[in-house]
Amino acid sequence: MSKEQLSVAVIGAGMAGRSHANGYREANTIHGAGLPPIRLAAIADVNVKLAKEVADRYGFEDAAGSWEEAANDPSIDAVSIVVGNSLHREIAEAMLAAGKHVLCEKPPSNSIEDAEAMVKIASQSNLVASTAYSFRRNPAIEAIRDLIADGSLVNPVLVDARYLADYATDPKGPMGWRFRGEMGTGALSDLGAHIIDLAEYVCGPIVSVSGAQLTTTITERHLPIGNVIGHDMAELSEETEPVTNDDTAIFTATFDNGAVATIRTSRVAFGLPNDLVLTVTGTECRAEFDWKRPAEFVVSDMQPDARTRGDRVVYVAPNTSRVFDDAVPMPGGNISFGYGDLFTYEIRVFIDEILEHPSALPRNADLTDGLHTMKIVEAIKKSHEQGGATVKV
Ligand SMILES: NC(=O)c1ccc[n+]([C@@H]2O[C@H](COP(=O)([O-])OP(=O)(O)OC[C@H]3O[C@@H](n4cnc5c(N)ncnc54)[C@H](O)[C@@H]3O)[C@@H](O)[C@H]2O)c1
Repeated sequence: MSKEQLSVAVIGAGMAGRSHANGYREANTIHGAGLPPIRLAAIADVNVKLAKEVADRYGFEDAAGSWEEAANDPSIDAVSIVVGNSLHREIAEAMLAAGKHVLCEKPPSNSIEDAEAMVKIASQSNLVASTAYSFRRNPAIEAIRDLIADGSLVNPVLVDARYLADYATDPKGPMGWRFRGEMGTGALSDLGAHIIDLAEYVCGPIVSVSGAQLTTTITERHLPIGNVIGHDMAELSEETEPVTNDDTAIFTATFDNGAVATIRTSRVAFGLPNDLVLTVTGTECRAEFDWKRPAEFVVSDMQPDARTRGDRVVYVAPNTSRVFDDAVPMPGGNISFGYGDLFTYEIRVFIDEILEHPSALPRNADLTDGLHTMKIVEAIKKSHEQGGATVKV
């Protein structure tokens, strides 16, 4: 596809919607020239006041009160779907049917049946249909992945991965879409989906899980008065609703290459707002990424002689990771970046893919990858229900 201009819309103006809006605004500023102008057409949200605020802040032309307005606008080529997970299917199907490329937030849905339907309709089109796994685009993660793939890090056998957060520790936090749904759709799908995908992105496919435990700590929450975005606190009504999904999930996993993992995720982990860590250890290597230091990673290998062997800190630089080449306004090593930048990198790849623009960057996850993570989540849930039994993926 080649165009003089690409028109985009973001559905959902909440916590992650803004990151997508900013990503489209920035996408043309990185990774060299060659893209046509990106027209920031519309932000759509049932909370039209919020849609207007976000449209104004990020320079979008229009604010719409419903996603259908974007679906029915023939000038829009591509959309990000950034609303609660149970709404993704209906919107994605309508957008794909209207011929629009889709970047859908993770997980693709709350149900495997919905996600399979989304994959099916996407596979019947020539459109790009991606799952927004933003952490994949971290240059340090890409660097570790490359080092394992090209054999520089030899024989990884053990993975230790966690994504812990504290956004739900306060029982006075309002009821919202994140706390509704079956077990497995809570922390495991919200945070766990990221770390499961990341572990597989770096170490290859997971073939079985075992030892799963899913727990719910805060079992009911008050409904908010008015609209709530992301993890915000709010004025509460007297009315309560049960929390029906998991606050915490732990499990072990076995990879196709024989490596084994322990993986933990929680939204009630006090004092840890956004604690994502992936450690890969083997007989001749060790690599660790810790989101608290997003622009560096630790590596240990056989290169130094035994007297100086040990962990080395690698600061991400243009030559460390191809994802970081020309990815910030001031190029160089140890020039950091933030979480918002990962959305820009992801959206740049989405646009390159739509336009079939030559790119050295790995493709984003597609909806099939998102469905695959959901199948792992389903296996973890089964393991939990069967007292920790081993369940094949
Ligand atoms: N990649 C990441 O790091 C990341 C981070 C946060 C959230 N997410 C994902 O993004 C999605 C949204 O999460 P969030 O935290 O931004 O949610 P949010 O609750 O902050 O925002 C959702 C927005 O959707 C709007 N909305 C609800 N129903 C709508 C409808 N029918 N049409 C249009 N708008 C509607 C709400 O008014 C709200 O503004 C989820 O799928 C979540 O998993 C991803």
